[in-house]
Amino acid sequence: MSKCIKWEKKYSVGIKQIDDEHKKMVDLINEACESAELMEADEATGRLLQHMREYAETHFLTEESFMKKYNFIPTDNHLEKHRLFSDRVEDAIARGKHGTDPYKVFQFLRDWFYGHVMVDDKALGKFLRNKGVR
Ligand SMILES: [Fe+2]
Ligand SMILES: [Fe+2]
Repeated sequence: MSKCIKWEKKYSVGIKQIDDEHKKMVDLINEACESAELMEADEATGRLLQHMREYAETHFLTEESFMKKYNFIPTDNHLEKHRLFSDRVEDAIARGKHGTDPYKVFQFLRDWFYGHVMVDDKALGKFLRNKGVR
């Protein structure tokens, strides 16, 4: 039941730094995917979530500095979605090893990738490309 994400060109938002960071996030999501498939527990999932929390923070800063630099007015609550993601990852970490079902963690991260990256970040990418950013 491989539902792990394979990076494809269609996932690109057209901005190299953002894409590189998204690829790294896909790697982390796929780690969650593999844990879920192995029904592997808790410790790996906890570590992964920690890692994702740190990485997401860096990544959100990247996007938010692009927004500032190019006067992008965030639409569809883009910034709130970043905060919400961090909060949810934080909650999962706080629930600890008894509260983190690896499959749910994977589903959450995957849905976030498709829902946020493919929609909100694409909009940002399009805006930045129109400004000449690559
Ligand atoms: Fe992003
Ligand atoms: Fe974003």
